[in-house]
Amino acid sequence: MAGMLENKITLVTGGSTGIGRATALILAREGATVVIADLQDEEGANTVSQITAAGGTAEYHHVDVANYDAVSALMQHIERTHGGLDGAFNNAGIEGPTAKVLEYSVEQWERVQRVNLTGVFICIKCEVELMLKRERPASIVSTASAAGLIGIPGASSYNASKHGVVGMTKCAALDFSKKKIRVNAVCPGIIKTPMLEHMAELTGTSLETYAAQEPVGRLGEPREIGDTVAFLLSEDASFITGVALPVDGGWTAL
Ligand SMILES: NC(=O)c1ccc[n+]([C@@H]2O[C@H](COP(=O)([O-])OP(=O)(O)OC[C@H]3O[C@@H](n4cnc5c(N)ncnc54)[C@H](O)[C@@H]3O)[C@@H](O)[C@H]2O)c1
Repeated sequence: MAGMLENKITLVTGGSTGIGRATALILAREGATVVIADLQDEEGANTVSQITAAGGTAEYHHVDVANYDAVSALMQHIERTHGGLDGAFNNAGIEGPTAKVLEYSVEQWERVQRVNLTGVFICIKCEVELMLKRERPASIVSTASAAGLIGIPGASSYNASKHGVVGMTKCAALDFSKKKIRVNAVCPGIIKTPMLEHMAELTGTSLETYAAQEPVGRLGEPREIGDTVAFLLSEDASFITGVALPVDGGWTAL
C-alpha cells in the first residue's frame, strides 16, 4: 500500500534526535524523501542510517536554523537536487534556562528567541519562496508547544517564543491561503526526548513527576508527534490550515 507522503520532498529541522528523528522516520516510512537539518552531525547521520536501513531515503545537512544564509543555501540545494519542496517540519528548538524573569538575562532571552522564533520565521520564509516556484499543494508544520498556549512558570523566553510560533503560524497560513500552501503548528505536551531528560537533570525533577503533570498520567512518545505531523503534511489534512494543534495528553485542557 502506498504511503501517505509518497514522492514528496520534505525537510525536517532538528531531525538528529527526539521528536525530529521520530518524525523523520515516520515521514520516510510514508514514502517521503527526508532532508534533515541540524547541528548534531553524528546523531543526524544516525537518523539517516535508521531511515535507509528501513528502506527509506534521507540525507543530512549541518544547518543552523537561526542563520538565514545557511537556510537559504539549503533551499538552493533542495531545488537543485530534488526540484522543489512539498513539506517542511520546522522543529529545531532549544529550551533555554529554567529561571524566573528576574534571573533571566537579556542575552539568554535573545538566544532562545533567535532559535525558536526567528529560526522558524527564517525557515517558513525560505520554504515558501521555494514552494511557490511550483504550483503544487504544499504543507508546513512547525513545533510550538503546550507552552505556546498556556503559561509555564520559569521559562519566559521559551513560552514567549512558542506563543510567537503559534501567532506566526496563523499569520503565514492567511498570507498563503490562496497559494495552496497550508501552515500549521503542533503543540506537544511533555515528550520523552533528550531535551526533557536534560531539563529533568538540570532541575532535579524526575520523569515520573513530569508524567504526573499529564492528565493521561504518562509522558508522550516522540512518534505520537510524528504521526500527527505526517497527517498534517499529507493531503488527508487538505482543509486544515492556521491551526495550533495540541498533542499533549490533555494538558492544555486542564
Ligand atoms: N520534549 C518536549 O517535552 C517538548 C515539548 C514541547 C515542545 N517541544 C519542542 O519540540 C522540538 C524538538 O524538541 P525535542 O524535545 O525533540 O528536543 P531535542 O533536543 O531532542 O531536539 C532538538 C533538536 O534541534 C536541534 N537544534 C537546536 N538548535 C538548532 C539550530 N539552531 N539549528 C538546527 N538544529 C538545532 C538539536 O541539535 C536537536 O537535535 C523543540 O522545538 C522543542 O521546543 C518539546
